[in-house]
Amino acid sequence: MTDTVSLVEITEKNLSDILKLKVAPAQESFVASNAVSIAQAHFNKAAWFRAIQAEEKFVGFAMLFDPSQPGFEGTEEEHADIWLWRFMIDERYQKNGYGVEALRLICAHTKTRPSFERLLASYVDAPGGPEEFYLNYGFEKTGKIEDGEVVISIDL
Ligand SMILES: CC(C)(COP(=O)(O)OP(=O)(O)OC[C@H]1O[C@@H](n2cnc3c(N)ncnc32)[C@H](O)[C@@H]1OP(=O)(O)O)[C@@H](O)C(=O)NCCC(=O)NCCS
Repeated sequence: MTDTVSLVEITEKNLSDILKLKVAPAQESFVASNAVSIAQAHFNKAAWFRAIQAEEKFVGFAMLFDPSQPGFEGTEEEHADIWLWRFMIDERYQKNGYGVEALRLICAHTKTRPSFERLLASYVDAPGGPEEFYLNYGFEKTGKIEDGEVVISIDL
């Protein structure tokens, strides 16, 4: 089932489908809406974003902060690391294994980018949050907290 998961470009044609994808109300503080993420992506050259498709349906959204993207001018600190900036599976499609499979594809993409040895991510430490999901996948805590979120990383 999960071998049909893919990361696809967002176009004028599929945009409205992606904007309809939502997490559960109790998860809304864990991730920005896709509308906000896509708007931010258009003003940040480090943004690399894709829809997550599974079995012909759009099920989620992922966005990297990838400072190796062409045209990104940032500070030395910003250039140091690649981050999983946004990641969500619509509430209707959660717990089907799509999140894990999409994360695998994101890690595989990240490995193709130059000069990064790890992928960083961060999460809100709250009941029902994604901590277990990330730690089960293989992310480890870095010991840092940034903007109130727990920073984790996985070696590439
Ligand atoms: C976190 C998220 C992306 C996981 O997606 P998903 O498609 O439901 O995950 P999967 O079905 O691939 O789950 C894989 C494993 O993680 C577990 N898991 C998934 N979400 C979990 C959660 N929130 N808490 C604990 N375990 C979770 C699943 O039970 C499964 O475990 P199993 O293999 O032992 O059965 C999804 O729950 C989501 O969008 N959450 C809201 C937004 C969010 O928190 N995003 C992260 C921002 S940092």
